[in-house]
Amino acid sequence: MADGVRRVRLIGVGPGDPDQVTLEAVRAMREAAFFVVADKSPRGGMPDPMADARERLLARHLDAPPVIVRVQDPQRERGPDRTASPDAYAAVVASWHAARAEAFEQALLDHDGDAGFLVWGDPAFYDSTIRVVEQVRARGNVPFEMDVVPGVSSIQLLAARHAMVLHDVGEPLHVTTGRRLREAVEAGQRNIVVMLNREIDVAGLEDWHIWWGANLGTPHEELVSGRVGDVLDRIRQARERARESAGWVMDVYLVREARRGLLR
Ligand SMILES: C[S@@+](CC[C@H](N)C(=O)[O-])C[C@H]1O[C@@H](n2cnc3c(N)ncnc32)[C@H](O)[C@@H]1O
Repeated sequence: MADGVRRVRLIGVGPGDPDQVTLEAVRAMREAAFFVVADKSPRGGMPDPMADARERLLARHLDAPPVIVRVQDPQRERGPDRTASPDAYAAVVASWHAARAEAFEQALLDHDGDAGFLVWGDPAFYDSTIRVVEQVRARGNVPFEMDVVPGVSSIQLLAARHAMVLHDVGEPLHVTTGRRLREAVEAGQRNIVVMLNREIDVAGLEDWHIWWGANLGTPHEELVSGRVGDVLDRIRQARERARESAGWVMDVYLVREARRGLLR
């Protein structure tokens, strides 16, 4: 701890495989006095598999049982009317972040010492923990320094599993969400990583090439690649298989326009 200033450490822990946690992340875990783990399970409902996975990572990498503060994740408003326009979606996310900041602040007020947050993959990709912890700081009730430990992202693991570079030589890479894939294609993007998929909607891209992976780094990993029109059914089946065997599914894929027959 620098000059007695308390630290809040956002520790990237990779996309699921305990072997893909860096040595720096393990050191940060060992230095934390307690861990704040957001629990998304509905009260009294099924356990949150991601919260449980975080606890298993800690059990694997720590010598002593950790102090874990499970924070019930505030319910996020969902449904087409709440998320139809970008403005409505932004408002829903802002109020969810504010509720999360309040819950995190309470955990910090209730416990002494350095806090660790285990962030899935890398904290820089489609994760709001940095923003929410910044909000806690801005509220001004708990002084701390924030530091971020990078992790292996699901994007990197996708590329590694398919043994590929994510873009052609000197070409750009666009990273977006399933809900914004169409917009990216219309804007002229031709090499796109897609995350946060509710389903696989690649209509119109049948002649593109896809490299897809679900539950990467876990025993329920699924991989498929090929021409979109040829492999879409296999992807949908593999997605269901992952969901059924693991109880959850997270998938990420790269789609690339096939030019002049050159796919890679
Ligand atoms: C909230 S984002 C977090 C991303 C994370 N920060 C990262 O760097 O991978 C969750 C999305 O990441 C992707 N993802 C995370 N873990 C994954 C895994 N083990 N296998 C496949 N996709 C994964 C999926 O697209 C999922 O919807």
